Amino acid sequence: MPAVPRGARGAVITGWGIGLPDKVVTNDDLRATGLDTSDEWIRERTGIAARRLGGTTASLSVESGRAAMAMAGVEPSAIDALVLATTTPDRSVPGTSATVQAQLGLSCGAFDINAACSGFTYAMVIAHGLIAMGSERILVIGTDTLSKVTDWTDRNTAVLFADGSGAVVLQSVEGRGQMLGWDLDADGTAEDLLYADLGGTIKMDGKEVFRKAVRIMVDSAEKSMKAAGVQADDIALVVPHQANVRIIKAACDRLGIGMERAAIVLDRTGNTSSASIPLALADALDAGRVKQGDLILLVGFGAGMTAASTVIEWAGGPNGG
Ligand code: ACO
Repeated sequence: MPAVPRGARGAVITGWGIGLPDKVVTNDDLRATGLDTSDEWIRERTGIAARRLGGTTASLSVESGRAAMAMAGVEPSAIDALVLATTTPDRSVPGTSATVQAQLGLSCGAFDINAACSGFTYAMVIAHGLIAMGSERILVIGTDTLSKVTDWTDRNTAVLFADGSGAVVLQSVEGRGQMLGWDLDADGTAEDLLYADLGGTIKMDGKEVFRKAVRIMVDSAEKSMKAAGVQADDIALVVPHQANVRIIKAACDRLGIGMERAAIVLDRTGNTSSASIPLALADALDAGRVKQGDLILLVGFGAGMTAASTVIEWAGGPNGG
């Protein structure tokens, strides 16, 4: 549970953006395909009312990445690295970051990372590390097109998964910057609870994932808060992975963070894996829910099983750098 070392060069978010497919699919639309489910069951058991489906991991990433760079006011040539978190690349080889790098006109290093639904938080920690080592500006994107790996006849998973993308631009600053503490976890002994074989669809033990998810989210969040030297009461906004509102509620209850302090978009987006945290963060920022100096807790969990969290002190916005 590392605290950010004193003297490490920090970063702030200077732009953010999202990419969502145009096609809205409601719970009733899913039922109309013959799936044995109901709008009432899905809303009650998951909190999801609708999701967006379509696009490719590259196309959605280009949309969110372009919007984030435009808000930050940076040219493609000014980006020093592209870190793309995705568990659903468009091809096995090369990484989808190559396609995105070319389409955005970037001339920097670009690589994919796969930590399932914890991916964006992993990518944020990696990007802050690159900035500590001398990079100036990094584009961090979280994108997934889970519709490619969903069995649309399996009601256990089909009601949950969706497509989307979110991105941020990180700008180096003198001094500590926004990241106060972070934590990355994984427990590979639990990999069979949630997986997709190459070319296959996601298989999931939903009940067990639920149980473990609450535990590992809370554990990771506590480690990050301890590293940052802050308490749950100090957190102005928690941005959790958007898998199931009941998981979020259970984790927030255990952490002592009221749901009014949680960012929620899954009612509209479903579970978009690596995209879910940046989508929820962008939604909260766009709604003006965060002011300078507020502490934000990002906390994700996912297949692996992985978990990741970070506490950031908001010093961002387009003028943050
Ligand atoms: N519609 C209607 N009924 C359903 C559906 C559905 N879509 N799915 C299951 N049911 C039925 C079950 O068959 C069961 O019926 P029974 O009582 O007759 O046996 C009943 O509803 C209850 O099923 P449970 O599995 O107990 O439902 P639960 O409350 O656990 O909710 C869910 C299931 C939503 C999958 C939940 O367990 C969950 O959210 N788990 C975590 C999933 C998750 O977070 N996955 C993402 C990880 S992130 C990543 O890396 C991609």
